[in-house]
Amino acid sequence: MHVLTVLDHPDPNSFSAAVARRFMDGASAVGHTVELADLNAEGFDPRWTDADTVANGGGTAPADVRREQERIARADAIGLVFPLFWWGMPSVIKGWVDRVWCWGWAYDQLEDPEKSLQRPRTGVLLVPAGARSDEMETQGYQAALETAWIKGTFGYFGFAKRRLEVLNGSTGSEPRRKALLERAYQAGVTLEKP
Ligand SMILES: Cc1cc2nc3c(=O)[nH]c(=O)nc-3n(C[C@H](O)[C@H](O)[C@H](O)COP(=O)(O)O)c2cc1C
Repeated sequence: MHVLTVLDHPDPNSFSAAVARRFMDGASAVGHTVELADLNAEGFDPRWTDADTVANGGGTAPADVRREQERIARADAIGLVFPLFWWGMPSVIKGWVDRVWCWGWAYDQLEDPEKSLQRPRTGVLLVPAGARSDEMETQGYQAALETAWIKGTFGYFGFAKRRLEVLNGSTGSEPRRKALLERAYQAGVTLEKP
């Protein structure tokens, strides 16, 4: 398969960047081809502008959006890597999701969250988070993210097989971070066909 990894982090030495690298290492190790969309390094503009509303109304999408769509078109599987910010996505990948997966290209209805205009792809969200997993579960944050992303977003984009891996304790000890990086590697190794 061809695997696109989309990273939102401005620091190449960040934990998130290391997660993206390990995910790609795992995918390469089992014979997949890999491609990285390093949104900050590439200067992707996340701002939703009037040009995007034109695209959503059936007009031509802006050139930067079309470039991202071409990248997606090549991919059979997509890994999204970003740190959890206020129980959501940081701004650059949020803008990438909003702008690139636009109405008329990604989806054209809202009734059925499993229906997409895109061909089926495998999707994995690798999300470093400072919080502990038990805290996130007991307080409902894990379920909220599963609902918002797995149930309510990525099916519209054609992510036929999809899963969320919150990498809890990303700011913790070295052994903890090493274990999380191994999980990222295994996520690349075990990518399923869509
Ligand atoms: C603005 C901001 C908001 C954050 N919000 C959350 C949050 O809601 N939940 C959480 O578990 N961690 C949160 N964190 C912690 C980050 O997820 C953590 O610092 C990150 O995963 C570390 O990875 P990095 O080194 O790649 O940035 C937040 C950090 C920042 C800077």
